[in-house]
Amino acid sequence: SKVWHYKFNVVMKNMTRLCESKPIVTINGKFPGPTLYAREDDRVIVRVVNKVPHNITIHWHGVRQLRTGWSDGPAYITQCPIQTNQSYLYKFNVTGQRGTLLWHAHITWLRATVHGAIVILPKHGVPYPFPKPDHEKIIVLGEWWKSDADDVMNQWVQTGMPPNVSDAHTINGYPGPTPGCSSSGFTLHVEAGKTYLLRIINAALNEDVFFKIAKHEFTVVEVDACYVKPFKTDTIYTAPGQTTNVLLTADQKSGKYLMAISPFMDTIVAVDNQTAIATLRYKTTKPYTPLTLTTLPATNATPATNSFIESLRSLNSPKYPALVPLKIDHSLFFVVGVGVDPCSTCVNGSRVVAGINNVTFVMPDTALLQAHYFNTSGVFTDDFPGNPVTPYNYTGSGPTNIQTTNGTKVYRLAYNSTVQVVIQGNGIIAPESHPIHLHGFNFFVVAKGLGNYDPVNDPKKFNLVDPVERNTLTVPTAGWIVIRFKADNPGVWFLHCHLEVHTTWGLKMAFLVDNGNGPNESIIPPPKDLPTC
Ligand code: C2O
Repeated sequence: SKVWHYKFNVVMKNMTRLCESKPIVTINGKFPGPTLYAREDDRVIVRVVNKVPHNITIHWHGVRQLRTGWSDGPAYITQCPIQTNQSYLYKFNVTGQRGTLLWHAHITWLRATVHGAIVILPKHGVPYPFPKPDHEKIIVLGEWWKSDADDVMNQWVQTGMPPNVSDAHTINGYPGPTPGCSSSGFTLHVEAGKTYLLRIINAALNEDVFFKIAKHEFTVVEVDACYVKPFKTDTIYTAPGQTTNVLLTADQKSGKYLMAISPFMDTIVAVDNQTAIATLRYKTTKPYTPLTLTTLPATNATPATNSFIESLRSLNSPKYPALVPLKIDHSLFFVVGVGVDPCSTCVNGSRVVAGINNVTFVMPDTALLQAHYFNTSGVFTDDFPGNPVTPYNYTGSGPTNIQTTNGTKVYRLAYNSTVQVVIQGNGIIAPESHPIHLHGFNFFVVAKGLGNYDPVNDPKKFNLVDPVERNTLTVPTAGWIVIRFKADNPGVWFLHCHLEVHTTWGLKMAFLVDNGNGPNESIIPPPKDLPTC
């Protein structure tokens, strides 16, 4: 196997979008940032040099980081931030993983502009388990604010009210042609008859999205760097933090076709007022050919979402078997939702918060992994409630429980124990979906449903045979998901809603996985250049 070296210079760069310029934080002056390539089982070393007046960390979203939590990246969870003029070397192996993932800043709202693709190719000589595409293309979906993204985040800190929604979505960095500006959007050039592997990454901050190309169908072959049984669809549904690989055959003769995204959001929530558009253009297209349009799913197109999710199954081959844990050591029930909390400095005397089992996670001022490794007391407690403290009707009317308490609590798992988490969406205050991301693991998606989870009847419907593996999955509005994983990775692993607004409000917690007893069952010692707080 090979070692790949990358240099990420964190620098400010002026960018013009929606007719306005602003300085943004970038990696090497690029937006989206550079693509990181590796092959399964290779080693990756990235030197991050911070030259901006912001603290920063980078997270390699979906990379398992077996025993290398020091390189995972979430600020104050596995490391202290890299300060201005400091640098840090991220070192990890991509063992047993191949596919598309993403990297992004993991502090405040910097990931709005600091993100890019990770492409892990199969080992030399190992083919894809689907027909070989003629070409591969990366499609990064994002969101753009005219103001500074951290200023937007701070609106909540000051007012306690939800911050502004984005001004536009982007496809490979561009919102698309904007009336009154000369800027054009992204164009994907294709040749008739050829097949393209599109590596679609949702790097948006706050919105699940639909992705469509007029008059073209996709074959989904992989999600979150896990192969799936291929299926056809004309609409991709993807949540922030998720990746979707699809085969696209350029089966028209020529022409220009609209490529577009529209946000999925529950109706009561405001979404940005400009979706992103781009163009799929055949190389033989004559000038002045009109664009072929398509209709987009409505923002709350739950049926489109459901049929996409229903189609996902893991690729059931002897090489990629689904090894779902059948005997469960830790059976957890997490209620996720939005609540309210007193706030003396906020305009209304209270603020919107979010939590898991009524705990609003408070960021510590030193990293949890350091505190764990060095046995520093007073940084966190390991009493995170594995079940709701006071059960209630989570999705109905009647007595509710929206008051949260603040805490920096982790849930402790024994090395190699098996875990099931039912994640129940609380539809009471703000019915919203929550794309939940788990660091350090892939999990099996064994079930999902609407309403309150029924512990007697719902387990009868679990898919323990060929469920899809993911690292990010949306808990539907007033619904639930059930995930399973094996705690085979010692360290401290963040679990949070990948809508940045909800993470900021406290919808996050961490698992602490103890070391095992064997020689290769503990966290490696911290690197010498590990930043201090
Ligand atoms: Cu992609 Cu903790 O995040």
